[in-house]
Amino acid sequence: PLVTSKEMFRKAYEGGYAIGAFNVNNMEIIQGITEAAKDLSAPLILQVSAGARKYANHTYLMKLVEAAVIETGLPICLHLDHGDSFELCKSCIDGGFTSVMIDASSKPMAENIAVTKQVVEYAHDHGVVVEAELGTLAGIEDDVKVSAEDSSYTRPEEVEEFVTKSGCDSLAIAIGTSHGAYKFKPGTKPQLRFDILEEVSRRLPGFPIVLHGASSVPQEFVAKINQFGGNMPGAIGVPEDQLRQAARMAVCKINIDSDLRLAMTASIREHLAEHPDHFDPRQYLKPGREAIKAMVAHKLVDVLGCDHKA
Ligand code: G3H
Ligand code: 13P
Ligand code: ZN
Ligand code: NA
Repeated sequence: PLVTSKEMFRKAYEGGYAIGAFNVNNMEIIQGITEAAKDLSAPLILQVSAGARKYANHTYLMKLVEAAVIETGLPICLHLDHGDSFELCKSCIDGGFTSVMIDASSKPMAENIAVTKQVVEYAHDHGVVVEAELGTLAGIEDDVKVSAEDSSYTRPEEVEEFVTKSGCDSLAIAIGTSHGAYKFKPGTKPQLRFDILEEVSRRLPGFPIVLHGASSVPQEFVAKINQFGGNMPGAIGVPEDQLRQAARMAVCKINIDSDLRLAMTASIREHLAEHPDHFDPRQYLKPGREAIKAMVAHKLVDVLGCDHKA
């Protein structure tokens, strides 16, 4: 069955690794991720954004994820990514999700606490866990309307009050990551603020921390996209050794979406360029799904360290 992330996070914290939280939007993405996790016996979080729910519809995604549970036998947590209101969170809880994120990080602290608390009360009554966020991620991607100047690192001195008053089960913090495929200015050296993470975990011993915007934007995918008709100059992600370090620390959940998109798009572009006569979607979606599977397997083993932990 679907599970919450409670046990996953407890074991990950103690074991010095992190669970991968992968965004899902269609069948091939779900299959690619879950086939890798099955081969490697990895616990898994599949997450659905408001946009994913709008694209694919709640019931389709729910049933596809239920199918993945049947096919893999894995403990899978189904999570709402970046819920922006109590109503959206309630709708996902009522619809069978086992975890929700309420993201009121752009609101003043008191407002963030209030809406998070409201979601926590409803969620806990229904056996569902809640992720909240403090601090704002930088982002230069189109629909994430946070410019680098507006972004602010999480203030460690606020986390105890926030967690105690809101009752959230895990906390997303801002330590220099951002959403999308353009995370750092080309030529600058990407560096996460491990000092902030250390201070947060010192104040919240044993409490699971979440890292958003944690794609590494593998350069082989970017190169392939650009080679086969794409145009993504200067796409840069978080170095994998820094993610590995975060996973060894209090970070128990690492969010990955952009790398899935890049893996699939690079593979489909290459396939269509090399087979201009192909027009059966299965011909290019199959390698797309394989590319996702290979990328996820690498993350589970070499970045998250969560293989053989299911
Ligand atoms: O944090 C954003 C995730 O990558 C989901 O993106 O809203 O385009 O589905 P989306
Ligand atoms: P990326 O864009 O780095 O993959 O981040 C995904 C994410 O944080 C989803 O919530
Ligand atoms: Zn995110
Ligand atoms: Na960890």
